[in-house]
Amino acid sequence: MFPFKLFIAAIALIPLAQGQQFQIQNWGNGEDATNYTYTSLAAGRFTLDWILGAGGNFVAGKGYRGNQNLVVNYTANYNPQGNSYLALYGFTSNPRVEFYVVEAFASHNPSDNAAQSFYGYHTSDGAQYELWSKYNGNLRQYWSVRRTNRRGGTITFNNHYKAWVAAGLPMGSLGNTFIVVEGQQGRGNADITVGVRPTTSIVETPTPITRSAVCVTPTQTIGTVCKPRGAKRTASFIT
Ligand SMILES: *[C@@H]1O[C@H](CO)[C@@H](O)[C@H](O)[C@H]1NC(C)=O
Ligand SMILES: *[C@@H]1O[C@H](CO)[C@@H](O)[C@H](O)[C@H]1NC(C)=O
Repeated sequence: MFPFKLFIAAIALIPLAQGQQFQIQNWGNGEDATNYTYTSLAAGRFTLDWILGAGGNFVAGKGYRGNQNLVVNYTANYNPQGNSYLALYGFTSNPRVEFYVVEAFASHNPSDNAAQSFYGYHTSDGAQYELWSKYNGNLRQYWSVRRTNRRGGTITFNNHYKAWVAAGLPMGSLGNTFIVVEGQQGRGNADITVGVRPTTSIVETPTPITRSAVCVTPTQTIGTVCKPRGAKRTASFIT
C-alpha cells in the first residue's frame, strides 16, 4: 500500500508545483518600429519601457499555467500613451482563441474596433465588464473589458471564462495566462507585480445570466449579438 499512496501523492503535487512557478510572456512583432524593453525581476515583478512607431506591437508580462480557477492579484504602475492595454491575457486551443480581461487601456478601447461585436455585461470583482469578440479570419479574440479602468486588484478568471461560455463564445484548452501590457504604438512604462497564486479555495462572485445592453435594446440576454455604436468610451481610472 505504501508505494501506491506515495505515487498518488506525487501525481497530485506536480500540477500544484508547476502552477506556482511564474511563466513569462515576451512577444514583439520584430519590426523596426517595435522598441521595448522587458525586464523580469524577482518573483512576480517585471518592468517595461517602450517607444513604438506605427506597426510596432508587443505583448509582455508574467503569469501562470492555465487554469480556469485562477485568481490573480496584481499591482501596476502603468503609464501608457497611445494604444496600450493592461490585461489578463492568454490563448486556448481547440478552438484557438486569444482572450483578454482588460483592466485598463490608454487611447484605444478594444471595443472601438468596428469588427467587434458586443455580447453583454457581466460583473466580477466589484465592477461591470463588457464582453466583446471579433474574428479576423484565422483567430478569434474574446474581450472582457472593465468599464471603470483600474491598475491593481484581484481578477477571478473563472467569472470571465463562464461569461464568455454563457455568451456562446467557447473556450478550448487553456495555455498560460498572464498579466500583460500590450503596446501598439506610442510610448510608456510600467512596473507590475503579479501576486503569488493563492493555494486556498476562492469564494466566487456570482455572474448573472441576464445583462443589460449598451446597444440596441434596454435589456439584452447574454449571447444576443449586436454591433457597437455610439460614442467612444474613454478610460477613467480609479486611483
Ligand atoms: C527605444 O526605447 C528606449 C526607451 O525604452 C529609448 O531610450 C530609445 O531612445 C528608443 N530608441 C528609438 C530608436 O526610439
Ligand atoms: C496578493 O494578495 C496577497 C494576500 O492578500 C498579498 O499578501 C500580496 O501582497 C498580494 N500581491 C499583490 C501583488 O497585490
